[in-house]
Amino acid sequence: MKCFYYFKDKYKSRGQRSAPVLKEQEKSQFSEADRITRSACSTASSRGIPELYEERAHNLRVFSFTELRRATSDFNRLFKIGEGGFGSVYKGSIQPLDGKGDSILVAIKKLNKDGLQGHKQWLTEVQFLGVVEHPNLVKLIGYCAVDGERGIQRLLVYEYMPNKSLEHHLFHRAYDPLTWRTRLEILLGAAQGLVYLHDESEVQVIYRDFKCSNVLLDENFKPKLSDFGLAREGPIAGNTHVSTAVVGTFGYAAPDYVETGHLTTKSDVWSFGVVLYEVLTGRRSLERNRPKMEQKLLEWVKHYPADSKKFSLIMDPRLEGLYSHNTARKVAKLADICLSKSAKERPTMSQVVERLKEIIQASNEEHVSETSLEVSESDPPNPVEKPDQSGPSELYKRRMAHLAKLGEHVESDSRRRFMILQKAKVF
Ligand SMILES: Nc1ncnc2c1ncn2[C@@H]1O[C@H](COP(=O)(O)OP(=O)(O)OP(=O)(O)O)[C@@H](O)[C@H]1O
Ligand SMILES: [Mg+2]
Repeated sequence: MKCFYYFKDKYKSRGQRSAPVLKEQEKSQFSEADRITRSACSTASSRGIPELYEERAHNLRVFSFTELRRATSDFNRLFKIGEGGFGSVYKGSIQPLDGKGDSILVAIKKLNKDGLQGHKQWLTEVQFLGVVEHPNLVKLIGYCAVDGERGIQRLLVYEYMPNKSLEHHLFHRAYDPLTWRTRLEILLGAAQGLVYLHDESEVQVIYRDFKCSNVLLDENFKPKLSDFGLAREGPIAGNTHVSTAVVGTFGYAAPDYVETGHLTTKSDVWSFGVVLYEVLTGRRSLERNRPKMEQKLLEWVKHYPADSKKFSLIMDPRLEGLYSHNTARKVAKLADICLSKSAKERPTMSQVVERLKEIIQASNEEHVSETSLEVSESDPPNPVEKPDQSGPSELYKRRMAHLAKLGEHVESDSRRRFMILQKAKVF
């Protein structure tokens, strides 16, 4: 899904040399346009991204275009791993800085020469990712910027994330569906990334582009937020919002922000609520190929409230019923408050994290009590649980059939337990 821009990108980068050093004009762009209202909500720092960037820029590697060409076999399409509004993304390998040891796998994003998101987003991304650091944010290793005879080149070099994005696993049939537990863990990790940006980093950052395709997954399916091209500093002390041009992705932007251009951290909370429903349903926030009533996810789910009997009808069929209904309802209720019309009524991201932790904890306890039930059923049955001689009760049969179905999908130890149950002909 592409980003939308109500105002054109006016940034021009003529004559810029390789390091993205801020020019005075760009600094004032930050300080006067968006930072009219920069925040002290997070910490007491009086410094903004430009100052922090200047201090930390040395942590980023500056690559030559030749180096990145070599890393991707001249941007060979066989190495292409994705395409977004900014340009194409390639898998590549680079040498460690000291030239010693194994080469490092990276993802290299190359700006389309006439890319819509353009140079301003490239610069914003370098500056924000050059400053922030958290396990749930993708690491920017370096960049390349050359204004040569053959035109302008802008590239970004990130740590490589081998498991694609949340979008791939939710919406593309070619990728394995995520289990319920993994979905919850991904939501929690992504929310923690947002808490860091909103409350814990030296400068408050509003991410402005939270969506499934920007949640990348590492080798253990741990989520990391990517794409900081639309990020903005939060409002300064005494102000409630940042006034900006409205940019974002259709289907994810908060309605109050779209209407007024007033950006707050609660705009990210709305987008998080949209993603919660996408994770529950396996549907995109906007699907034009569905019947009219079902095209807008948030409209459609309103017909299936979390407390109603029909709630489970919206759940992602690719979960094959392997989820806790109780937990799913709690997640839907959390989504509903994130999607409150009034931004003030939405929770903060740290409240969302707390709630998600409680939900996951309760879900684990539910799982533990189910497991102990299974174990006691493989033990000699006690008189109350034991099916009578004339045959097992309906409830008992149903429960066992359910366990057997679960066994088709679980690995190793748990599968063995289900096999044992079957061997013992307990149903
Ligand atoms: N660090 C990375 N490691 C591995 N793959 C990546 C990395 N960054 C991006 N990709 C891949 O490239 C794809 C495109 O990413 P990109 O951010 O350019 O576009 P998008 O998020 O799909 O759209 P948009 O431009 O609206 O953000 C991602 O979905 C992902 O599969
Ligand atoms: Mg992206």
